[in-house]
Amino acid sequence: MTLWTLFFKNSKILSESDSAQSKELVLINNIQYKDKLVEIYLSTDKNINLNDLEKLCDSVGWIRRPLRKVKTAINNSFLIVSLFQNIDGNKCLVGFARATSDYAFNATIWDVVVHPDLQGQGLGSILVYEIIKKLRYHEISTITLFADPDVVMFYKNLGFIPDPNGIRGMFWYPK
Ligand SMILES: CC(C)(COP(=O)(O)OP(=O)(O)OC[C@H]1O[C@@H](n2cnc3c(N)ncnc32)[C@H](O)[C@@H]1OP(=O)(O)O)[C@@H](O)C(=O)NCCC(=O)NCCS
Repeated sequence: MTLWTLFFKNSKILSESDSAQSKELVLINNIQYKDKLVEIYLSTDKNINLNDLEKLCDSVGWIRRPLRKVKTAINNSFLIVSLFQNIDGNKCLVGFARATSDYAFNATIWDVVVHPDLQGQGLGSILVYEIIKKLRYHEISTITLFADPDVVMFYKNLGFIPDPNGIRGMFWYPK
């Protein structure tokens, strides 16, 4: 798989009031889901249902990973952002993204996903912007991610640029 290393640099530091600390809030009304309009909630609570996350990742065709390791990855992430839809009183996970960090200079965004039934309505952008907002609040200035070739334009639209000084990203994989 070809991966692009993308960087986001932005000198604006967000004020405390911009960085919502609440675990859950109504994010947006009037999102089209099948034949109706729904509300989507945003949460930064790490305590999410791993089976729901697996189903969400299945819906976009991602290879399954051991849930035990996914749980460890989430617990050790700097932050996660989830999007939920309320269906008949049940929370249904429809979007997810997370970031790891050294808590000082650098952060990397991982696992950005929106359920196919809700794509193309701005939710993916909201996930990424929410992560950037919180990282900038903590004065983390270099934000990177690895993009599959077919989503490079999605991230470029959000302000990310391919490796600015030529190919500096290097990878080691077990043989
Ligand atoms: C990539 C993904 C998260 C985008 O979510 P989304 O909710 O559809 O994105 P948005 O609606 O916020 O799209 C924002 C803009 O990016 C564009 N865009 C979205 N997906 C795109 C793609 N794959 N390629 C190019 N442009 C894309 C949209 O058309 C939109 O452009 P506009 O502002 O001019 O209308 C979603 O398509 C997804 O989950 N894909 C499968 C998982 C995946 O590949 N994740 C990325 C891993 S690196």
